[in-house]
Amino acid sequence: MNTAESILVTGAAGFIGSHLVERLLRDGHRVVGLDNFDPFYAPDEKRRNLKTAAAHQNFRLIEVSCQDVASGAGALEDQRFDVIVHLAAKAGVRPSIEDPSGYAVSNIMGTQAMLELARRHSVRRFVFGSSSSVYGNAARVPFVETAFAILGGVAWLVAKGERALGSRRPA
Ligand SMILES: NC(=O)c1ccc[n+]([C@@H]2O[C@H](COP(=O)([O-])OP(=O)(O)OC[C@H]3O[C@@H](n4cnc5c(N)ncnc54)[C@H](O)[C@@H]3O)[C@@H](O)[C@H]2O)c1
Repeated sequence: MNTAESILVTGAAGFIGSHLVERLLRDGHRVVGLDNFDPFYAPDEKRRNLKTAAAHQNFRLIEVSCQDVASGAGALEDQRFDVIVHLAAKAGVRPSIEDPSGYAVSNIMGTQAMLELARRHSVRRFVFGSSSSVYGNAARVPFVETAFAILGGVAWLVAKGERALGSRRPA
């Protein structure tokens, strides 16, 4: 990435997101982190993840759910982003089977809302964090993107998100 870009990172308080945010700040970018502090694991841990970033002048945190951005939450309409990195997602295979609606809202509607935001703002680079679950129980390694996979739970939901992005992976 070029220097001093404006980057929106969703799932910023998570494991991957918080490390990415720190790296982007170190590299001189302006970062807006978006996270709803989903209770899948302790929200306090997520706040600790963001401790370093929170002290940085080029970082701003917006506590909102991705899917709510569609109705104006988070006041993102006035912002301009060069890149959106979409990492926010409810993770976990078993809970996705127990609460498919919650996962659909977060992972499908949330992704859709981020794509709409990117379209409205003409953001040309959109990075989406997928899941190895989309490969199903494939025994053959290395995995290939064109492999047929029977998908359940979170994998199906991620594959739907990839479809929204125009991925060629079979469902
Ligand atoms: N950690 C891994 O090994 C791994 C491997 C492959 C893919 N991934 C994918 O990368 C992404 C990030 O993974 P992670 O390990 O950092 O997960 P994580 O659970 O630590 O972080 C996800 C963050 O997203 C937030 N979030 C969840 N739903 C949200 C919503 N609707 N709106 C706003 N914020 C929301 C959570 O509060 C959390 O802070 C996920 O999509 C995950 O499926 C992770």
